[in-house]
Amino acid sequence: MFDTMTITKATGAVCGSLLVYLLAAWAGESLYHVGHDSHGGEEIAQAYTIDTGADEASEVVEEGPDFATLYAAADVAAGEKVFAKCKSCHKLDGADGVGPHLNGIVDKQKAASAGYAYSDALVAMAADTWTPENLDGFLENPKGYMPGTKMSFAGLPKVEERANLIAYLATVQ
Ligand code: HEC
Repeated sequence: MFDTMTITKATGAVCGSLLVYLLAAWAGESLYHVGHDSHGGEEIAQAYTIDTGADEASEVVEEGPDFATLYAAADVAAGEKVFAKCKSCHKLDGADGVGPHLNGIVDKQKAASAGYAYSDALVAMAADTWTPENLDGFLENPKGYMPGTKMSFAGLPKVEERANLIAYLATVQ
């Protein structure tokens, strides 16, 4: 029924089709991989952009609550303990020592303890008041806030300590 030539032609046709199919599949595969690789590249570029934003966002979070927030919820008893760092120079009985007394200092006019010899730097600020925010700035870095002050104190770097201390001072009239 089939002679050898017919069988050979048929086999050749089948093999040829298979070969074309395999080549097409291979081409498709490599195209797919090229697309996939460039997609991966895009993902890396996006991940970089997103990371930068995420870093900034997490830095903001790490800063923690600000002074106003901490002051609103301040721990007066903890603030009294922080005042130990001020005691050597400041009294709370209305008498001046190395530094002026600090009775009623919160929202008091600056340089207002009559009879205390303030520095020119503090006298120059006498029109201003010791609001909690001003005390916060001064106590964080006295010499940065008031260049020329004669208060020899390095400062309280922790905002919680400043908030608690100022809340304590607000209770001392
Ligand atoms: C080594 C001594 C010393 C220490 C410690 C010190 N102070 Fe003073 N403080 C002074 C002197 C001196 C002045 C006067 C500054 C000036 O005239 O420039 C002053 C001024 C001040 C004033 C301004 C008062 C006013 O009448 O305007 C405040 C507020 C103050 N100190 C708070 C504090 C607090 C709170 C602490 C503790 C965290 C502290 N100080 C620690 C010596 C000190």
